[in-house]
Amino acid sequence: MTVYRLDSPTTSLFVRASIGAPPELLYWGARLNDAVTAEEIERLGTSQGGPGSADIAIPASLALEPGLGLLGPTGFGAHRAGRDWGSRFDVVAVEQNDCRLRITCLDPRTQIGLEYRFRLHAESGVLTIGSTVTNHGTDLLDLNEMATACLPLPARLTDVIGFTGRWTGEFQRERLARFAGGYVRENRKGRSSHDAFPGVILCTPSTSENVGEAFGLTLAWSGNHRIRVDSLSDGRVFASLGALFFPGEIRLAASERYVSPDIIAAFSPDGLAEMSRAFHTHVRSHILTPHMRAKPRPVHYNTWEAVYFDHDLDQLKAIADKAAAIGAERFVLDDGWFGSRRDDHSGLGDWFVSDAVYPEGLKPLIDHVTGLGLEMGIWFEPEMVNPDSDLFRAHPDWVLAIKGVDQIPYRHQYVLDISRPEVSDYLFACIDKILSDHTIGYIKWDMNRDLNHPGDQQGGARSDAQVRALWALLDRLRAKHPNVEFESCASGGGRCELGILAHTDRVWTSDSNDALDRQAIQRGASYFLPLEVLGAHVGPAHCHQTGRALSMGMRSATALMGHMGMELNLLTEPTADLVELKDAIALYKQHRDLLHNGALQRLDTPDYIVAMGVVATDQVEALFSIALVTGHARTLPDRVYFTGLDPARQYRLALVWPDAWQSKSVPSVIDALELNGRGTLINGDALMRAGLQLPLASPESVLLYHLKADRGCCD
Ligand code: GLA
Repeated sequence: MTVYRLDSPTTSLFVRASIGAPPELLYWGARLNDAVTAEEIERLGTSQGGPGSADIAIPASLALEPGLGLLGPTGFGAHRAGRDWGSRFDVVAVEQNDCRLRITCLDPRTQIGLEYRFRLHAESGVLTIGSTVTNHGTDLLDLNEMATACLPLPARLTDVIGFTGRWTGEFQRERLARFAGGYVRENRKGRSSHDAFPGVILCTPSTSENVGEAFGLTLAWSGNHRIRVDSLSDGRVFASLGALFFPGEIRLAASERYVSPDIIAAFSPDGLAEMSRAFHTHVRSHILTPHMRAKPRPVHYNTWEAVYFDHDLDQLKAIADKAAAIGAERFVLDDGWFGSRRDDHSGLGDWFVSDAVYPEGLKPLIDHVTGLGLEMGIWFEPEMVNPDSDLFRAHPDWVLAIKGVDQIPYRHQYVLDISRPEVSDYLFACIDKILSDHTIGYIKWDMNRDLNHPGDQQGGARSDAQVRALWALLDRLRAKHPNVEFESCASGGGRCELGILAHTDRVWTSDSNDALDRQAIQRGASYFLPLEVLGAHVGPAHCHQTGRALSMGMRSATALMGHMGMELNLLTEPTADLVELKDAIALYKQHRDLLHNGALQRLDTPDYIVAMGVVATDQVEALFSIALVTGHARTLPDRVYFTGLDPARQYRLALVWPDAWQSKSVPSVIDALELNGRGTLINGDALMRAGLQLPLASPESVLLYHLKADRGCCD
């Protein structure tokens, strides 16, 4: 057999792996019926000789390596001092085990081995691909380029959706028509970055949230990456995703291996939202730990925007009292508790409780917080050091740098070379001590600058090693402290991707607590990440990032659609706002099981509306958030058409937020359907197909609709 078939209930994959020939992906997409044979797929894959082209068909191997002879983009590049550059990989062994396929390839001429590992996941239909390069020769092998895989995709997918952004504006979608040549997103920031999320979606021009084919691909990697979509002149289309290296960064000695980060890919025949649901199912079943899946996500109180660096024990205790009173379940002490860190100019690296600020240590604060029934959390930024710190003074050689080139500080800080064991050991010891000496259940792990000079003391590049050392350090800490949860923060959402999520438990989605910004950011993040991992906080009445004043109704309903928390000074915010926030927290607690386990819905709406919801997997309950981010062009706002409901059930539809909201005009859909009261039973099919008129509402407000299936007997 030369063509291997893998099936999930929703997707199929056919890979040709003939001994002595390059491996090729022949088909990935909707599940084909069992009668379809590998031979048929192989024959249908026969290409036609084009005018002026090679006399034989050049296969589209998974590496698009130079020795293949396909004159186009490559996914693999290596050499030994200028030799052995022209590899061509032939299959030497294949192993299939149910939905896993391992293909071992070798180029006997250059003595380079290449292995591919495919897995099609039954519960999500998600495809994961990993690859490994091995140097079977005796001389050093320089790996210049290595896409985890280059995947041929149907040319009918003429739209490309990428994700860009900036600090406080992550996960902005950019949709464009594919063009001849290469769509290339490269990231050299040493973290997955705010502006080049390592993922891409290919779809048809008519694909929307709930209609049309979508192929989503993401690289589970927390560092530099290259994502390409290449449209060749012969009509073929390839998507390639891989880590990106600096020159000389990956040098393999005899028998050494390079293991690529995984591609995680999801196909949907029914729109972008279905693709996201596949990613979410995968994250829930394979990336998050069972412990995290079982534990309800506690409501956070975070000190950052309340006090910044101005820590005062009595004030923090008073804030904790208020936080507990309105429903917080975890208190996170942010930046400023250690060393000389009274502002962002000094102290990073000195992970010892500041005697000046906490003369009796952290115990009095932690005792107070835990005495209120809250879990304690704490902030670290382990990979960084301020030049003005005891650590830097003692070990100026521990930082990443390019010898002879001036350091470029960002936020007055340098980056430690954590791939050096003594550096990682120091960080492990410091963090371990804080965790061992205190009752702490949560670490906010921050990383606040790009790595622009990632060189080591020997003059080599260490970007790749830095990411692997980070993952290893996190794993080591998690193994020693299995009940401590970790958040990945990098100036907000600079390191939010599926790679880091395998070593942490949630992400800080963005430093913007502006609810309007957040609507777009959280929606963008939801393409790949489920709501429960998206840290979402209610900020102060006047947003610190944008200066915008948004109602508590809008702010709290926006945070509710993620892992909810708050970071405002509860001692100074208006009392009425805190009463409303308390209600929103209660609503979050009531619905977090649904929000964090159900199936995400994104509705197709005009741009002034952001509409997302979650339907329980058994379809008995749903919560939809309809945010009116600006005013509407016509007199009335549009109708919304719910999705994901059971068409055969009746649902009691009610408006649960804003609390006791009065209609602005008559006649009113609110009154007619008793949305503010008991709600009305309506058929799921009608809610999805006939839709619901939105009531008149102010711009910058959020409506939350709750739907509960009728049990039949009592209503
Ligand atoms: C970063 C984080 C913030 C906060 C500050 C502290 O900007 O994203 O949430 O923790 O650092 O310095």
